[in-house]
Amino acid sequence: KTLLASGFHMPERGTVDELTDALIAIGADGVIQSVRRPDEAGYEAEKRARSAEGNLVTLPTGSFLLPGLVDLHVHAPQYPQLGQALDVPLEVWLHQYTFPLEARYADIAFARRSYGLLVDDLLASGTTTALYFATIHQDASRLLADLCLERGQRALIGKVAMDNPDQCPDYYRDASPEAAIGGTQALIDYIHAHPDNEERLVRPVITPRFIPSCTDAALEGLGALARSCGCHVQTHCSESDWAHGYVLERHGMTDTESLDRFGLLGRRSVLAHANFLTRLDMETIRVRQAAVAHCPVSNAYFANAVFPLKAALEKGLHVGLGTDISGGPIGSMFDAMRGAIMVSRMLETGTDPDLPPEARSRQSNSRVDFRDAFYLATTGGGIALDLPIGRFEPGYQFDALAIDTTAENGTIRLWDDLDRGDAVLQKIVYTASKPNIATVWVSGRPVK
Ligand code: GUN
Ligand code: FE
Repeated sequence: KTLLASGFHMPERGTVDELTDALIAIGADGVIQSVRRPDEAGYEAEKRARSAEGNLVTLPTGSFLLPGLVDLHVHAPQYPQLGQALDVPLEVWLHQYTFPLEARYADIAFARRSYGLLVDDLLASGTTTALYFATIHQDASRLLADLCLERGQRALIGKVAMDNPDQCPDYYRDASPEAAIGGTQALIDYIHAHPDNEERLVRPVITPRFIPSCTDAALEGLGALARSCGCHVQTHCSESDWAHGYVLERHGMTDTESLDRFGLLGRRSVLAHANFLTRLDMETIRVRQAAVAHCPVSNAYFANAVFPLKAALEKGLHVGLGTDISGGPIGSMFDAMRGAIMVSRMLETGTDPDLPPEARSRQSNSRVDFRDAFYLATTGGGIALDLPIGRFEPGYQFDALAIDTTAENGTIRLWDDLDRGDAVLQKIVYTASKPNIATVWVSGRPVK
């Protein structure tokens, strides 16, 4: 199939590439074969040929194609508590709200209902790829993989490993390090052998929840597993003062240093939050080519912290965005983009009006703009995951969304004589809402 469409993508940070009436040819495998523009030789001939074959799909005027959005941090089981208990400290929130909720996924009927709603909601929000924490349960985690395959969402899914009796309750804990490691291996095997997963739409992830919830034996075993299987790794890193301080106390080093010792920092590792990184931590993450899932909304509402995004980007770290459902109360990557912009501005200005600007706690030149935010949600996420997604180029998966700027119930208002070029993208990033998301494709297949 070939799509005739206008839209935007951003292979390089800083430069928006505008596509106008581009011909995007998509193979039966969902991979982009070619992207042709009207000024290229052969454009008209190809357009006529595809049209004559009946293989040309034309996006309506007023609709714009964007690469599918990549959410680098989602706690799938926490969907039912979106918007709840955001004002309690992490360690209290886990024990009073989150562990009791996650424990309910032992009930497969509950899991089916909740996970089904979540995957549909995220697809309708334009999230074509999600990096999921599931729960400790084997059956519910397998079900999440089944559902993503059935609904067509690209997903990376980890059985959560948490076996430390000092930090995890009896009712919600892996019984031993062997159970944490063995359960992780079992989900890897299930996903790799899944009969509907030949294209590897769903991938397994080694998922130590965070250092406090794991014993050293589990961390060691999971690190060894990461080396031997080459799978993705995800965990929380230096999210809150408490979590950061706990690791300093227990291991005498930062989260980043400790994860590195256990062999958990590699090209396919994604560290959520990373709010309290030292200079050396940033350097270690860069050298290991690991990535950070920046979760601006969650960090603002929940961790009272701001990840130093601009500094990380300028150092050359791989960074993408996450919603952190339900530490972040909104599952939309558009809100993650807007959050990234907002918090970067507050970091730059500081917030205490009684102090002169130079005396406020702040970082100079920390601001990012809508282009950076869009880059992070698309190309940045693809690089973080080491997957061919996030841009419209040959060899990349056709994961995309069509934004209908004319949708009556939508929130985008374009004015013909005002909005041209990347001003249109700017309005989309700042003002799009669900009713503007007309169609979503994953690997060439319409999923919404
Ligand atoms: N740290 C350990 N577990 C969690 C979690 O579920 N959410 C967040 N935001 N931080 C965590
Ligand atoms: Fe999280």
